[in-house]
Amino acid sequence: MMKLNSTPDIDRSHPLAVVVIGASGDLALKKIFPALFALYCQNLLPEQFHIVGFARSGMSNDDFRQRVEEKLTCRYVPGEKCDELMKDFLANCTYMSGNYDSAESFRKLHAELEHIETDASANHVFYMAIPPFLFLDVAHALHGAELVSECSVRGWSRVVIEKPFGSDRASSDALTKSMLQVFSEDQTYRIDHYLGKEVIQNLLVLRFANLIFDPIWNRNHIQNVRISWTENLSLQGRAGYFDQYGIIRDVMQNHLLQMVALVAMEQPVSLHSTYVRDEKVKALRAIAPLSIDDMVVAQYGSGSSGGRQYTGYLEEEGTPEGSITPTFTAAVLKVNNRRWDGVPFLIRAGKGMSDSKTEIRIRFRGVPGNIFAEAAKGLPQNELVITVQPDAGISFRIVNRVPGLGIRLDETELDLRYSSAFEGVMPDAYESLILDVIQGDKSLFIRADELEAAWDIFTPALHELEAKHVVPETYAFGSQGPDAATALAGRFGAIWRTDT
Ligand code: BG6
Repeated sequence: MMKLNSTPDIDRSHPLAVVVIGASGDLALKKIFPALFALYCQNLLPEQFHIVGFARSGMSNDDFRQRVEEKLTCRYVPGEKCDELMKDFLANCTYMSGNYDSAESFRKLHAELEHIETDASANHVFYMAIPPFLFLDVAHALHGAELVSECSVRGWSRVVIEKPFGSDRASSDALTKSMLQVFSEDQTYRIDHYLGKEVIQNLLVLRFANLIFDPIWNRNHIQNVRISWTENLSLQGRAGYFDQYGIIRDVMQNHLLQMVALVAMEQPVSLHSTYVRDEKVKALRAIAPLSIDDMVVAQYGSGSSGGRQYTGYLEEEGTPEGSITPTFTAAVLKVNNRRWDGVPFLIRAGKGMSDSKTEIRIRFRGVPGNIFAEAAKGLPQNELVITVQPDAGISFRIVNRVPGLGIRLDETELDLRYSSAFEGVMPDAYESLILDVIQGDKSLFIRADELEAAWDIFTPALHELEAKHVVPETYAFGSQGPDAATALAGRFGAIWRTDT
């Protein structure tokens, strides 16, 4: 039976202003404003709310509203009612241009907010949808304009920032320290949008709200864990950003490692954000720093996909000549604790691959003393497959008797597909995360010590790759990645299986 999705019950009585800094950029237009509108359609924004777009370019309120409107969707409320909601929502959106490092510009913003807000105790969210090198300038300018308040009488202010948080442990620490001069850790919401994805939020539910998984969720029963993130896309104009960071910093150190932490962590004391994050930090701290002997780095060359020819990474517009930035990495992580000792966590992330898919596969051990060993020969062991995207679902691969005379066994799956099991709209990760910021729930945000632990795993390998100038292998665009990644998995008796 299909189950309807639910909406939370929240207190909407306190006025709120959301200031989106970098309002003319892709992140703001494609993700943040549509998410705010989705919350509005579900009555999840406070009764009195205001959205101010702030960026450098000059733009009238009407032009701004038009740009925002183009990206809004009527997923929650289709039909005529949606036009009405859009009109009301856009009436609460204004735009202001200014310089990111100018306290003067932010003083004007302060005056504008005072003008709009009828209640002096309104709360403020400052969403930094800007490149990280601007975070500090903006933070200081906000502070200079007296817009940062921790006091609930004046209303709280919270800041949302997006990765990359530095490029290694030292630069990340320096950024954290400088930001703390303005915003306390309590006020800081570091987004990893993967944590807002529905299936990823479900990981703790799957593990801890069901009885059957915990007793077998350990080295005695699990042979390996594979987490694979692939994208069938080229850089789409982001070479300037991507080449500075590469796939390890762009995706692995954050999105993939968060999935590893959620699979590996112990049950938190409760769902309080402190306890959830304590357990994640403990799991990350148990992971040995990655060695370059346990990883493969590669870069896509030209190739074809879906009948289209793609150029290689080095020929993409904006890629520096001779760049050795990896677009693909496979690695094996070792979680040195009692639960996981000896169980390889294989992770891989690649752009320019054959398909776009994110999945977690938990491979169980073989059956000891199996009386069906002969008939089950060649069949893989049990596997729990959690598909994050595109076709969200959870399936469990079992060995089953094929109906008929005589004994024939085959691999079959118990299959939960979200599209057929649940009715209603699947929220975008940003909807869930922005709602949490408004509600002050930090469970799905990265705490400073979590960030430190994540960088500690990758920093030595990143430095070594750079110091030794390791040249990545080449794989064809649209392929399954380099053979060396297959060999790496093979060392642990695993394969990068991608069928469902
Ligand atoms: C971003 C990375 O964090 O995540 C991008 O910077 C990547 O390179 C993107 O494409 C993937 O996000 P999603 O939600 O489309 O899987």
